[in-house]
Amino acid sequence: MRRTAALRQWLHVLLLLCLPLGLAASTAAQPSVAPKPIIIAHRGASGHAPEHTLTSYRLAARMQADYIEVDVRATRGGKLVALHDATLVRTTNAETVYPRRSPWQVSDFSIRELKKLDAGAWFAPRFAGERVPTLDEVIQLLKAERVEAPLYIETKQPGIEKAVAHLLQSHHMLRPDRVMFQSFSRKSLEALRRLIPRGIPLIQLIDGREAQHWNDQRLRQIASYADGIGLPLSAVTKERVRAAHRRGLIVHVYTVNAPHDLARLCAMGVDGIFTDYPDRPARIAACRRPPDH
Ligand code: G3P
Ligand code: CA
Repeated sequence: MRRTAALRQWLHVLLLLCLPLGLAASTAAQPSVAPKPIIIAHRGASGHAPEHTLTSYRLAARMQADYIEVDVRATRGGKLVALHDATLVRTTNAETVYPRRSPWQVSDFSIRELKKLDAGAWFAPRFAGERVPTLDEVIQLLKAERVEAPLYIETKQPGIEKAVAHLLQSHHMLRPDRVMFQSFSRKSLEALRRLIPRGIPLIQLIDGREAQHWNDQRLRQIASYADGIGLPLSAVTKERVRAAHRRGLIVHVYTVNAPHDLARLCAMGVDGIFTDYPDRPARIAACRRPPDH
């Protein structure tokens, strides 16, 4: 039974990889009630392919994600790359390729060295050969595939804001319909605010520990420099969503994969959902949108 389910899911992904983009679009649209949260592909379609790889982003686009999330860090030499962790241990074979370079911090490696690493085999053997993409390569891919979905960029380390803004500017993507920014660091968001045109949303991420000290004064403070909050699934309640909306803050929730959680949050009126499975919301009535939305 499980083998058939796994086989069916794998065939679904295969079909999506082979289908031309237009055809994929026509199969996704289903009638339903409005308004619905935006669906954000968390690290790309990271439930189906290794996170932060070009395959993961391509799949997220084919699955009709509204936004594609990219965690951004800088290498030694300042090249912007798509990586979540501060080290290369979990998602690459750095320990094997560079056994004497512990603790394998991203910022200790040049882009040339990073490009020698395999960023796919850890997820499944069929993804062996995937590379760590630069942010520029991610943008080039989405342009080449005529992907409409804007980027949802998270600055994962302080001091990269100027480089990120300049790169997006060079691709004419520093616009409200092409990008949104988020960070756990208030400092990083305030640096971005000084660099980017008005209208591009800034989202203050809140982790589980901070969510325990939830209070309206903190919301008021966030509303003075950001347009929304990013809350962990464990900390979301109807009251908190209402309180944030009262402060004019949109609410995005991370990371939601279980269908029952997706349905619950869609019904709760949150404004955005991060998920590793951007293909799932379309199969949940509470998350489906009317055709014209
Ligand atoms: O922004 C939502 C989420 O991406 C934040 O957590 O650790 O997955 O980057 P993390
Ligand atoms: Ca992130």
